[in-house]
Amino acid sequence: MDKNFLWGGATASYQCEGAWDIDDKQPSMWDCYLHENNLENGDVASDYYHRYEEDIRMMAEGGQNTYRFSLSWPRIIKDKEGTVNLKGIDFYHRILDTCKKYGIEPFVTIYHWDLPQYWELEGGWLNKETCYAFEQFAKVCFEHFGDKVSYWTTFNEPKWFIVNGYFIGNYPPGLQDVQKTMYGAYHVMYASALAVRAFRVGNYQGEIGIVHSYTPVNGVDNTIETKIAMRYADNYCNNWILDTAALGEFPIDLIARLSEKYDVSFMKAEDLAVIKNYTVDFIGLNYYARTLVKPYTEGETQLVFNHSGKKGQSKVIIKDWFEQVKDPNSEYTAWDTEIYPKGLQDGLIEAWERYELPIFVTENGVGVREDVTVDCVQDDYRIEFMNDHINAIMNAMDKGVDIRGYYAWASFDLYSWKNGVEKRYGLVAVDFGNEQIRKPKASYYWFKEMIESNAKIIKRRKFEKE
Ligand code: BG6
Repeated sequence: MDKNFLWGGATASYQCEGAWDIDDKQPSMWDCYLHENNLENGDVASDYYHRYEEDIRMMAEGGQNTYRFSLSWPRIIKDKEGTVNLKGIDFYHRILDTCKKYGIEPFVTIYHWDLPQYWELEGGWLNKETCYAFEQFAKVCFEHFGDKVSYWTTFNEPKWFIVNGYFIGNYPPGLQDVQKTMYGAYHVMYASALAVRAFRVGNYQGEIGIVHSYTPVNGVDNTIETKIAMRYADNYCNNWILDTAALGEFPIDLIARLSEKYDVSFMKAEDLAVIKNYTVDFIGLNYYARTLVKPYTEGETQLVFNHSGKKGQSKVIIKDWFEQVKDPNSEYTAWDTEIYPKGLQDGLIEAWERYELPIFVTENGVGVREDVTVDCVQDDYRIEFMNDHINAIMNAMDKGVDIRGYYAWASFDLYSWKNGVEKRYGLVAVDFGNEQIRKPKASYYWFKEMIESNAKIIKRRKFEKE
């Protein structure tokens, strides 16, 4: 087995931990938003707070050598003054020690969307104070866990939580406001750079990156109009995160275009200098699907998201910029996600050519309704999905892309945000209604075998190169 390549699964604190008000954990913006709107929530989720040992042991038994998870800010920091909750710190020490016990390399996300509500009440990501609070939180994490962690990432998917929270309005805080989307986006990218700075200044061991919800952009044809639409889509979907984190600059044409209608005076030279000076060591790419676009034709901006699992509802049209379209030849899930492994291969090559940074595929998986009362869920569709996407990774590696790890989403079934728990992604089934019983799915066993055999393939390749 090639020890350097990381094979594992991923989770996020809010989606699996449960224990939402235990051991002095404070409410997050998601706790409050879901409770206030009477929506299915993650109060219990996969009850990982109490069952992490079993879950991490199963990862190791499944041949995995790494685990990506996030730290809950409201579990670790009690208030705006920054008081540290030692019970929260202890919990993550237990996780890290359990990883060590089972030979699992931890890959830690500092922020996976669960902003403390005490910061949301101050304006959340619209308030620059939140950036400095995040920097302090990151420092606490580095100080307490720095000896046990070699792979850090600042944020999970800035594009997803900012666009959904402030532009589409389907995530908390549920706004539909372009100017506020711009503030939020800017603040998160600034906060990320502040955390990278804290990491460098503190001289901690290991590396730090960012995780992006990567949707490589394709056009319906080769016309100049389509190429322009593709650039708009790429700026909207990818470049404001990756260019900013990896190259230290927001895309200039995006800022110029936005400045025609919106205020950009909040972008300060001293912040931009921090962004320029504190770029990441690597990029994490979460890949579910690409974005296929055509030129904008007519009508108002429309952003409809499918959380129901009833096909054919989603829509993305950004007025004067681009329209997202479906490929009639592709297969789509019930939640309207295209299954398109080639997008991963092309996207990895593109990201490597643009940024020349090591890449981890930090999430990849398919969400499906499944009956978990059976002994072993026969998830052939997931096996096929993972097989095709891992092949795409291998092909990109053959073309010279420096890829260092693959994380299946998810290690086990968990709460899938606005889709609740019925949209399942896990390699291990969790029977939420039946004492949270865990049972490996067929994909878990397949992944184990694949890790063994592919590790050999990777080793042979390396040997051949040498
Ligand atoms: C990513 C997130 O966007 O995709 C995860 O990092 C999320 O938190 C996953 O669960 C799948 O998306 P969804 O909405 O189907 O749960």
